[in-house]
Amino acid sequence: MTISVREAVENRRSIRKFEDKPVSDGDIWEILNAARMAPSWANRQAWRFVVVREEATRERLKETLSENNPAGKHGFKAPVVIVLCAVKDEATVHQNKPYYLVDAGLAMQNLMLAAVDKGLGTCWVGLFDENRVREILGIPDSVAVVGMTPVGYPAQNPEPRPRKDLAELTHYEQW
Ligand SMILES: Cc1cc2nc3c(=O)[nH]c(=O)nc-3n(C[C@H](O)[C@H](O)[C@H](O)COP(=O)(O)O)c2cc1C
Repeated sequence: MTISVREAVENRRSIRKFEDKPVSDGDIWEILNAARMAPSWANRQAWRFVVVREEATRERLKETLSENNPAGKHGFKAPVVIVLCAVKDEATVHQNKPYYLVDAGLAMQNLMLAAVDKGLGTCWVGLFDENRVREILGIPDSVAVVGMTPVGYPAQNPEPRPRKDLAELTHYEQW
């Protein structure tokens, strides 16, 4: 499948329920490769990824979420969970803006859009106990755990979530 950027942007949804169907290493490689192509502060590419297929590890990652996290119930039954990390020292904090977070976000967005092209679903999961994730995966303290996403074939087809009107979001020439 090859879809346009517009279609990928418009068709992406946060997917929290997945089919019990394997995802190939080739597809995982391709979505990670898309992540790697994102722009970054001074091209530092501070992002790192941990690909988790082991069921027991996915289960432990799920336990780092609070009980009411909507992705917790079924999300981590997806065959793959990708944990998005960032090496803090590799990108600058400039005027209080930690660019390692910005860069990691751009990489994740590329990954999520590339997943749409493969017919795969993702959901950025941001609410978790970072230290516990670090412990489970052996991630050093110098590395931020920015987010995680399950990756799998969607078993749901959610309606688009509402968005604010452009008029509310956009100023022309002056604020
Ligand atoms: C930084 C960030 C953190 C998020 N954390 C969670 C989360 O912990 N659990 C969850 O179910 N969804 C999480 N989401 C998904 C949002 O709820 C979702 O993107 C939003 O409701 C819009 O829906 P859509 O992605 O289907 O367009 C997160 C999204 C972002 C960008």
